[in-house]
Amino acid sequence: MARLASARGLHALVTGASSGIGRALALRLAREGAHLSLLARRREALEALADEVRAVGAEARVLVCDVADRTACAAAAVEAVSNLGPVELLVNNAGYGRHRRFVDHELDDIERMLRVNTLGSIYLTKALLPAMLEARRGWIVFVASVAGKIASPDESVYAATKFAVVGLASALGLEVEEAGVHVLTVCPGAIRTPFFDEESLSRLPPVALRGMVEPEALVDAIMKALTAGKHELTYPRGIAAGYAVQGLAPRFMRRQVKRTTIDAVAKRDRREGAGRTS
Ligand SMILES: NC(=O)c1ccc[n+]([C@@H]2O[C@H](COP(=O)([O-])OP(=O)(O)OC[C@H]3O[C@@H](n4cnc5c(N)ncnc54)[C@H](OP(=O)(O)O)[C@@H]3O)[C@@H](O)[C@H]2O)c1
Repeated sequence: MARLASARGLHALVTGASSGIGRALALRLAREGAHLSLLARRREALEALADEVRAVGAEARVLVCDVADRTACAAAAVEAVSNLGPVELLVNNAGYGRHRRFVDHELDDIERMLRVNTLGSIYLTKALLPAMLEARRGWIVFVASVAGKIASPDESVYAATKFAVVGLASALGLEVEEAGVHVLTVCPGAIRTPFFDEESLSRLPPVALRGMVEPEALVDAIMKALTAGKHELTYPRGIAAGYAVQGLAPRFMRRQVKRTTIDAVAKRDRREGAGRTS
């Protein structure tokens, strides 16, 4: 059962539901008739979303949880099931990024990012997958990133966390498909959300700034990918051409990545610096 014919009546648990992609996806699922467990750290934002979900006629429960905390994830999974029954759709979306050179990235934050972006997804999947396997029914969405397929400089640790998610999700999908559980890996490009703070925006390459899209467009693509039973989604779709180029001409792609990221940012900074002093 790979295709998600309808979300009606489904219990969906969305991590990182208080903002951005998770928030938009939770609302879309609610509009399509799913009941929602909304997980993140900020209670107020989750409660406000829960009200919006209820306003469209779906049930919603808030789970305040730091996904970096293994015990808290296990407890949140138990609470979700006792609130709304077995989780049939798990969306591992909570995460954050930083534009930072590896040499400048503090080890504490490196460990934290690996815990949040990678282990958080593992903790919740570990807690909820066995019941899906037993029921022979379930969907797990991993929100990874294009940074988990093409490694860009100035986000080496973020890339490491997302490469790990892509690897995990791809292998897991093969392990569990015969048992009725479908895994979808989502690799977004640049999506306009609070993910980008002012510092990140100032370090974002021009190509990413130009290609930024709204979360609702990504959510639409995710819903279509689930309906079609796809295993991987890159959005905007054109970016996926880069994967083929990387496979066929890795040296060319390496030069392109450097040229369009750190080299382009350095050029822009020089131009803007010159503009300010002239
Ligand atoms: N925006 C993009 O361009 C882009 C591109 C590729 C991939 N992604 C991925 O998409 C996912 C969602 O990002 P977004 O763009 O929607 O960013 P966002 O608006 O900043 O949302 C991030 C969400 O993750 C939650 N979160 C962060 N740390 C958490 C933790 N320790 N425990 C529980 N929840 C946590 C946040 O909630 P609280 O602060 O309330 O905990 C928030 O709900 C991330 O995994 C990100 O890596 C984003």
